[in-house]
Order: sequence, then structure tokens, then C-alpha cells
Amino acid sequence: MKQIKTIGVLTGGGDCPGLNAVIRAVVKTAINHYGLRVIGFLDGFSGLIHNKTVELDVKSVSGILHRGGTILGTSNRDNPFAFPIEQDGKKVKVDMSQRVMANLQTNGVDCLVVIGGDGSLSIALELFNLGVPTIGVPKTIDNDLFATDYTFGFDTALTTAMEAIDKLHTTAESHHRVMVLEVMGRYAGWIALHGGIAGGADVILIPEIPYNINEVCQKILERQHAGKFFSIVVVAEGAKPLDGKMVVAKVIEDSADPIRLGGIGNKVSKEIEEVTGLESRVTVLGHLQRGGTPSAFDRILATRFGSAAVDLLMSGGFGRTVCLNGTEVASVSLEEATHKLKLVDPRGEIVDAAKKVGISFGG
Ligand code: F6P
Repeated sequence: MKQIKTIGVLTGGGDCPGLNAVIRAVVKTAINHYGLRVIGFLDGFSGLIHNKTVELDVKSVSGILHRGGTILGTSNRDNPFAFPIEQDGKKVKVDMSQRVMANLQTNGVDCLVVIGGDGSLSIALELFNLGVPTIGVPKTIDNDLFATDYTFGFDTALTTAMEAIDKLHTTAESHHRVMVLEVMGRYAGWIALHGGIAGGADVILIPEIPYNINEVCQKILERQHAGKFFSIVVVAEGAKPLDGKMVVAKVIEDSADPIRLGGIGNKVSKEIEEVTGLESRVTVLGHLQRGGTPSAFDRILATRFGSAAVDLLMSGGFGRTVCLNGTEVASVSLEEATHKLKLVDPRGEIVDAAKKVGISFGG
């Protein structure tokens, strides 16, 4: 096996609290423990395509552990295998992978660490299949990556949701209103489920359990009859009614991941007002869930992942991604890890516990 002297690192896809903690752990472990050189590629795969780099030394990662976002920048538009360009006035997608290979060679990069979600890890797999030694580090606030029990960023995001619910409680109670909180979570309802349980929501609507609006309203009216004149409804952006569809806010043509959801909170709130006659308000938490300083859990998991990624590459575990298996950091092949999601089990223990404390899932 070729001796590894220089490694490259990039962050791809939507940002997430804890990315900087991973970068810091990769750099510190690589330099201090293994004596490697580390090059950062800027703005996700765009940096690999356009050769935008930064030399990462221990000083450059000092003071970033607690910072949200990513010092490397990120992008979810630049897939090297389907890169959007304008040709004769038309938008077409071209394969830039040979350019990526050349840039890796120019920079003397022996191995590439890709910190990203399903889209970025799928690109890492394609690069690996082309012969690039790649290692993955899974990230997403959605916690829906199949390969790992938890992703860093999720704990921070659900804490943001919980704190929002805490704040909504006091105003809901004062005005006797139904407060609807729309949170992120496209195809999996982990943020809504965990944030909703932690915040004491009355109703949680997630993509995995299509809801019946009459059941949602029944729960709210039961509370009224019991003298509780307010309710909190948490809705994942990907929630959908029985026999209905997810609400799409927009389609971003040249994105690797074109569908953007949004609007289900308004729909649910309007229907609650119509059916119950009660007053309702909507809050869309949006990108507040992706920003800010990572929680202790996320800083620790991100540090463990970053350090383990360098150990993995030094032991030749290319084409694999680090993951959390129970409480242990382990690894799994990118092949096994990508193109499938980890969904909430509607009959699982967490949903069961939520139901037993009186939370309705509307279905
Ligand atoms: O996958 C992470 C995520 O934050 C989703 O929860 C959300 O639907 C999406 O990204 C938003 O993406 P963007 O920042 O591109 O609008």
C-alpha cells in the first residue's frame, strides 16, 4: 500500500453543528498523531472541481470546536459526476471527475475525507470506485443516515426545537391558542419526534405516520374538555396526511437534491382552526436548527468521528465511513451506508413511550 503523507478533507451538503469539531479532530489527529499534511478543499465538491484549497495546520483549527457552520464552506450543488454548466444557452450536466482526479494529484492528496450526508457520501463512493482512496464521516441534523445510530448535529437541532416548544408553551397558555411548530426532517421525523417529546408536545406529526386531521383535532378538543385551553403541535416538514402528499416549497433545478419542503405547518394550522374553531398560530423553525454552537454531545461525537476517520484511513479502510454503532464508533462500507434512510419505526419503543404519555400522532 502507498504510504500516506497528505490527506484532503471537505464538507459537503447542508451544514450542521459539529462540522468544525470534525475538521479540528481530523487535522489534530493527522498532524499530531500521524505526522501527516492536511489540505482542505473549499465549498464542498466545488473546491475539488475548481482546485480551491487551504493548507490546514493545527493553528488554523484553533478556537473552532464550539463554532457552528464549517470553516471550509459547503455546497449542495456541485456533484463532480453531474456538474451543471451552460452550453449553447442551455443548462447541461457534465462529468468533471477527471478534473477532480487531476486536482487531487496536483495537491499530492493520498486520501480524501468526505464529511457529508447521503448525497456527499454517495459521491465519495463513486470517487472510490474510480480509484480515489476515500473515507466518509456521516453528518446531518436529520439523523436519517442508515449507517449510523446517531449523526452529530442532530442533538443540537432537537435542542433548538425543544427550546422553541418551551417558549411557545407560555404564549400558547396565555392566549389559549394552538401553536403549530414546523421543524426540519424531510423523509424522517427524528427531530419532530425527539424535540416534541423533550418539549412536551401534545401532537407530533412525522412522515412515517400519515395523519388524520380529525384525530389531531380530537386530541386538541379532549384537552379543551379537560380544562387545558392550549395545545402544541410539532410537524416535521415532510409530514403528510393519509392519502395526501408532502408539501413542496420549491424545486432547485441544479441541486443534487432538488426538493425543498415547507408549508405543512400552515396547512395543519388552518385545518385545526376550521375543524375546532380555536385560534392557531404557526412558527417555522427553519435554518435556526442548522445554525449555532454544537451541543456537548455533538462536539464529542464529532471529535470521535474525526479522529476515527484518520485512524481508519491509516489502517487502509478506504471506501468506508465511520459510524456510531450503539455507543461504539465503528465503520461500515460506503456501499452499505448510502442510498437508504433510517426512518422512525412507527411501532418502535420511542413512539410507544410517546403515545403512553398521551402524545397523539394523528394516526
Ligand atoms: O438535510 C438537512 C436539511 O436541513 C433538511 O432537514 C432540510 O429539508 C434541507 O436540508 C434544507 O436544505 P437547504 O438548506 O438547501 O434549503
